[in-house]
Amino acid sequence: MTKILCIGAGYVGGPTMAMIAKKNTNVQVTVVDINQQRIDAWNSDNLPIYEPGLDEVVNEARGRNLFFSTDVEKGIAEADIIFVSVNTPTKTFGHGAGCAADLQYWEKCARQILEVATSDKIVVEKSTLPVRTAAAMERILNSGRNGAHFDVLSNPEFLAEGTAIADLDNPDRILIGGHSTPEGKKAVQALVDVYAAWVPQEKIITTNLWSSELSKLTANAFLAQRVSSINSISALCEATEADVGEVAYAIGTDSRIGPKFLKASVGFGGSCFKKDILNLVYLCESYGLHEVAEYWRQVVKMNEYQERRFVDRMLKEMFNTIAGKRIALFGFAFKADTGDTRESPAILITRELLEENAEVVITDPQALKHAEQDLADVIDRVVFEPDPYKAAEGAHAVALLTEWKEYKELDYQKIFDRMAQPAFLFDGRNHLDHQELFGIGYNVYSIGKAPLKHI
Ligand code: UDX
Ligand code: ADP
Repeated sequence: MTKILCIGAGYVGGPTMAMIAKKNTNVQVTVVDINQQRIDAWNSDNLPIYEPGLDEVVNEARGRNLFFSTDVEKGIAEADIIFVSVNTPTKTFGHGAGCAADLQYWEKCARQILEVATSDKIVVEKSTLPVRTAAAMERILNSGRNGAHFDVLSNPEFLAEGTAIADLDNPDRILIGGHSTPEGKKAVQALVDVYAAWVPQEKIITTNLWSSELSKLTANAFLAQRVSSINSISALCEATEADVGEVAYAIGTDSRIGPKFLKASVGFGGSCFKKDILNLVYLCESYGLHEVAEYWRQVVKMNEYQERRFVDRMLKEMFNTIAGKRIALFGFAFKADTGDTRESPAILITRELLEENAEVVITDPQALKHAEQDLADVIDRVVFEPDPYKAAEGAHAVALLTEWKEYKELDYQKIFDRMAQPAFLFDGRNHLDHQELFGIGYNVYSIGKAPLKHI
C-alpha cells in the first residue's frame, strides 16, 4: 500500500490530503503538524478551519485511510511520497525583508526528512515557493550518506478558500513539475497516478520543475492583477458617472477577457496574492529585471490604494470627522465562506478608523477569533459582536467588508431604526440592494458607483 505523508496541516495540506484519501482508498494518507492543537482539532468534530463541505470529506476518510498526527518522524520514516505544505511567509528580516519568501520552515523540514529517511522518497512541494527552490531542496536532500534517494517534484495547489472542496473535486488542472531523467519521470508518474484516481488525464499537466514553480506565482499574479485592474477603474467610475458593475459586465462578455475575477471590491486579501506577487517581484529584482519587478509591484500598490481610498471616502462623506462615532464592520474575513483573515482589507481599515478615533464594532459569522488575534494590540479599543443587529446598534455607519450571504438576508429596516441618523452604509463588496437601502433612508456608498444620498 502506497503511503503518503503531508507535513503541515493548514488550509492547503488538510483539505487536499482529505480529498486524496477520499478518492484513493488503497492509499494511506497521514497529515502531520508540529502544532498539537491543530492536530487535535483535525481529529475532533470541530475542524481547525471553516470550509464548506470539508467535514463530510474528512468524516468519510478519517480513521479509514486518513490520519492526523504530530509524530513527524514516524510519518517520514514510513512514507513513499511526502508532500511539504508548511508555511512560507514573507520574510520580515534581513535580505529581501518584506518581499522574499521565508524558507526557514521549508528548509527545516527538508533537513528533518534527510535525518529520518532510510528509504527512497518522492518529496513534493505543495507550499508556494520561489522558482528554483526545488533545486536547493534537492541539494539538501541528496547530500545525505544513508543511501536514500530523493526525487523532488513541484505540485502547486490552486484551490481557493471557501470553495476548496469543489476546487479539489473538480480542478481546472493539476500541475506536476519534475525532471525529465528516468527517475524524475517515474516520480512524476507516481504522483500522476494519485490524481488520476479522480481527475481526467487531460487535466493533469506535467512540466519541468521551474515552469511548475513559476506557473503558481504567475497564476496568482494574473488573478490579483485582474482585481487591481478593475479596482483602478472603480476609482475612475466614482469620479465620473460610470458604473463599475456595468463596465465589468460589458468587458467580461468579450470572450478574450472573460467574466470572472472582475468584481470591484474594497481590495483583495488572503494568504497568497500579496505574498506571491512580492515573491515574483523579488525574483525579478534578483535577476536584474527591474522594470518587470516594478510592473508587478504596482498590482500590490493599487490594492493598498483601494483599501485606503475606502476609509478616506468614509471620512469625507461623514463630514470629515468620525471621532467618537460608532462604525460597524460587517465581515472581517478576506472573502466569504472562510474564517481566514490573513491580509484581509478589514485589518488595515480597522486600524485606519481607530487612527481617526472612531469606535469600531466588528461582526463576522466565522472570523471573530482570528480578528481578535489580528487586533491583539488594540483589542481594548474594538468591540467584537457576533450579532450584526447588536453591532449596528447606535452606529453612524455600517461598512460591509465581506460578502457573506447572511448579510443579504438581514432586515435592514430594523438595522436602520437602531442606527444614529443620518445613517450611512458603505458597501465594500457591492453586495447589497442599494436602491432598497436608499429607499429605507440610508445614504449608500458602494465601490465604483455613484452614491445614493439623502443629504
Ligand atoms: C487564491 C487563488 O484563487 C488560488 O488559486 C490560490 O491557490 C490561492 O490564492 P484565495 O486567496 O483563497 O485563492 O481566494 P480568491 O478567491 O482568489 O480571492 C482572493 C481575494 O481577491 C479575496 O479577498 C477576494 O475577495 C478578492 N477578489 C476576488 C475580488 O476582490 N474580486 C474578484 O473579482 C475576485
Ligand atoms: P497554508 O495556508 O499554506 O496551508 P498554514 O500556515 O495554514 O499554511 O499551515 C502551515 C502549517 O505547517 C502550520 O500548521 C504549521 O504548524 C505547520 N508547520 C510548519 N513547520 C512545520 C514542520 N517543520 N513540521 C510540521 N509542521 C510544520
